[in-house]
Amino acid sequence: MNAPIGIFDSGIGGLTVANAISGVLPQEQLIYFGDTAHLPYGDKSKELIRHYSEKITDYLIHDKGCKAVVIACNTASSAAYEFLRDKYRGVVPIISVIDPIIEAIVEDDTIHHVGLIATKATISSGVYQEKLQRRKPDIRYAPLATPLLVPMIEEGFHNNNISHALIHNYLQNEALSHIDALILGCTHYIIVRKEIDEFYGGQVKLFDSTHIVANKLKKILEKEGLLSEGRVKNDEFLLSDYTEAFAKTARMFYGHEIKLVRKDIWND
Ligand code: DGL
Repeated sequence: MNAPIGIFDSGIGGLTVANAISGVLPQEQLIYFGDTAHLPYGDKSKELIRHYSEKITDYLIHDKGCKAVVIACNTASSAAYEFLRDKYRGVVPIISVIDPIIEAIVEDDTIHHVGLIATKATISSGVYQEKLQRRKPDIRYAPLATPLLVPMIEEGFHNNNISHALIHNYLQNEALSHIDALILGCTHYIIVRKEIDEFYGGQVKLFDSTHIVANKLKKILEKEGLLSEGRVKNDEFLLSDYTEAFAKTARMFYGHEIKLVRKDIWND
């Protein structure tokens, strides 16, 4: 089916997911929407995050004709996934970045004690804990809010002494001792995945929302008969607010230059 795939995030971090999707599904047209006018979502209420997420999903489906929507943001997935999935059940598949990670962890018998680092909103939602313990009741779960990582990464601090110090400070937290797996529960953290892996000397399994989610999306499109027969249009990258700083950060998250277009779906 030659319709686009919608992907949205609170800002530009979800471009890490979009990049993985375009690698796994190169023939698909992507429409990315970054809600830069309202970021960060990570310290907003569940009600407000759900309100923004619904508006964006409605726009992607009704105005842009998307055949599937990926919530490429852990915070929005934790606040709005079930609501959006139920609203569009039988109409358009909605994919969160949380459930595919839960599935991968539940299927791995070597994991008994899993840590989660994420924004305050994702941690306080308790969504990861609830989903993990429902599927694997004896798993031990260690959550830690790491709110300074998003601004640190957006300001370009990675692979240097500042990021090293902050990452070590967070990961040395008592809550995360003895874990055998760690969920990188925020789209931005893929940028510092190598530094996190180095901290653990490769001894802790890391799970992030890029390839696991892209492969899950591919399976769903195959199952629903929604794969496109061949690309017909170019990808679109829309932001609800535009600044040069966003353009610079977008390059870092997507891996190469993209054309960003301002689209204010609230007032246009
Ligand atoms: N993209 C968000 C996430 O994955 C983090 C950024 C924000 O707080 O808006 O949770």
